[in-house]
Amino acid sequence: MSGVNEDYNAISSVYSQISKLPLMVLERQLVAHALSSCKGQTILDLGGGNGIHARKALELGASSVDVVDISSGMLKDGKTITAASGVNPAMIRWFEGDISSTLAHLPLHKSYDVILVGWTFDHAETEDQLLGMWRNVTTYAATGAKLINTRLAYIPKAEETDGIEKYGFLYPDYKEIPGGISYTYEAFTDPPLRCPATSLTNTLDFDESKSIARQHGFRDYQVVDSEQMDVVKEDPAFWRRFVDQP
Ligand SMILES: C[S@@+](CC[C@H](N)C(=O)[O-])C[C@H]1O[C@@H](n2cnc3c(N)ncnc32)[C@H](O)[C@@H]1O
Repeated sequence: MSGVNEDYNAISSVYSQISKLPLMVLERQLVAHALSSCKGQTILDLGGGNGIHARKALELGASSVDVVDISSGMLKDGKTITAASGVNPAMIRWFEGDISSTLAHLPLHKSYDVILVGWTFDHAETEDQLLGMWRNVTTYAATGAKLINTRLAYIPKAEETDGIEKYGFLYPDYKEIPGGISYTYEAFTDPPLRCPATSLTNTLDFDESKSIARQHGFRDYQVVDSEQMDVVKEDPAFWRRFVDQP
């Protein structure tokens, strides 16, 4: 992965601010909904960053969470946030690792009930890297495991961005590359956070993403309905554009 660890090390101290932005408020509700049956379950969070979803899973009754991330800065921030959060820090283990390669050198469990992949597929720059990430999903998924994945499904070109900034993000530097799109995601934090990312068609497109999930054994593919989330119910007009083009 060309420099993704440095990219995230550089923004890790500001990254936790994005949790306040509207899109991330909705994202947390979507992930919490998907996690709602995780009581007593073991979770592997691949590219888990500062562990925002790891802590939520523990609040919802998960028995333990292992976070793997390529950025030492994100992991360090995650440990600090967790220590101040009221969550028992002993229930989260933090591992530095590249999830597009083998993780066999890490003392992970043999398998997990839930695998979380929060936006990490949006950093696979090649098909090989994406398949490497999927290989780890299947390697560590227990029989009957649930995979919870958030990813971008639409990246607007510069001339199409009008109106989406209200959700807290813009996506400059849009460039078509072989097999996908590279861009920068810019978050309206203070100072603004900018990070390069790549979304391959296999993750962007719903049908392709469903097909790759099926190929890896996840046959019951479900999309959590954002219109059922509290934040959208409270202000449907604000969220209309997102609901129409997730
Ligand atoms: C947009 S952040 C999301 C963090 C977290 N999943 C969340 O939902 O808040 C993407 C994370 O993926 C991590 N990441 C990107 N590529 C990775 C890779 N190949 N292996 C491990 N972590 C990776 C980054 O360091 C970063 O923490």
